[in-house]
Amino acid sequence: MSVSEKAAYLDNAATTAILPEALEVLYQEAATVGNASSLHGAGRRARKIVEESRERIAAAVGAKPQEVIFTASGTEANNLAVKGMFWQAQNDGEAKTGISSSPVEHHAILDPLEWLERESGAQLHLAQVDVNGVINPESITEIMSEHGATISFATFMHSNNEVGALQPVAELADIAREHQIPIHTDAVQSFGKVPLHFADLGVDAMTISGHKIGGPLGVAALIAKKTLELTPLLHGGGQEREVRSGTLHTPAIAAFATAAEISQAKLNSNSERIRSLRARLIAGITQTVSDVRLNGGANTLPGIAHFTFDGAEGDALLLLLDAQGVQCSTGSACSAGIAQPSHVLIAMGMAPKIARSSIRFSIGPSTTEAEIDRAISVIGEVVVRARAAGAK
Ligand SMILES: Cc1ncc(COP(=O)(O)O)c(C=O)c1O
Repeated sequence: MSVSEKAAYLDNAATTAILPEALEVLYQEAATVGNASSLHGAGRRARKIVEESRERIAAAVGAKPQEVIFTASGTEANNLAVKGMFWQAQNDGEAKTGISSSPVEHHAILDPLEWLERESGAQLHLAQVDVNGVINPESITEIMSEHGATISFATFMHSNNEVGALQPVAELADIAREHQIPIHTDAVQSFGKVPLHFADLGVDAMTISGHKIGGPLGVAALIAKKTLELTPLLHGGGQEREVRSGTLHTPAIAAFATAAEISQAKLNSNSERIRSLRARLIAGITQTVSDVRLNGGANTLPGIAHFTFDGAEGDALLLLLDAQGVQCSTGSACSAGIAQPSHVLIAMGMAPKIARSSIRFSIGPSTTEAEIDRAISVIGEVVVRARAAGAK
């Protein structure tokens, strides 16, 4: 790739370009002084911006403004939900130490769950998932029937960040409600990509994050019913219903609200365009490469296309693609220099070696046909080279 050529950025599920309108708001607000908790004019001005943004974000997700708790990341919102609900159940003295979730959650859910298991004796009851990574509601019915009395809360992602599978969260929420179990959903990948309505979904709490929808990094929210009691992670000034202390990031919150409104207004047109770019990518790749499979099934997010290329290491594919100006991702984490297969693919029943041969392309509103075509034009050669390296 020549230096003048722009790389094809096909990693929008990791983070997506900030929208110009959101960037403008961020700039403007960052240049204005004021702590939203101060009582003087500058503080009251910042508070007004925060409360208006809260209303705009609530409207975009089908929630009430009082239900929006601002955090600094989706990871933080997930930790607040998971630990906050678990600790609350322990404080209530009901000895409910069970938690129901799934093995395909993001690490920002799975790691706090495993931490609670190690440190606080939580018992994890994980659902079964099918070959596409979709949570099986029947296995949740079984878990709740057997362990419901000891389950403190449930958490299930709205859509999977690796393979893109949409999850039957409304159905899972019905099951949890029958057992009076509070339920949270991690909707970080779904917000702004597919229709999402907090009240209609029937959950008690939901995570969304700014940088996945064209907002800035470092701002997110836990949407939580007022009736849901949460033990705080952070103690301090008592902001955000006393569950999330810390000076509010007014500029990022205002920019997040702008991005939320735009992504909602353009939801249908964006998703239609993104879906057709995805179809173009899938057709191009499957026509160019042999022994390739598309993961995630038929009901996925519009912008995620996750492939397994038998006999090629995902890391090799990623680096070779990067060298050709195509940026994508593997779902696997690298621990001590050894590539680990993705826990999502393992839960879907893939053998570790095959799971390691996978990469994710993710398309966003700013993706162009030229970027898709660049990926298609280099993939054949890249896979040949990665397979040759793998065969050594
Ligand atoms: C499903 C899911 N949950 C949570 C997160 C974490 O969000 P953040 O990057 O805002 O911490 C991500 C980020 O990739 C995600 O995909």
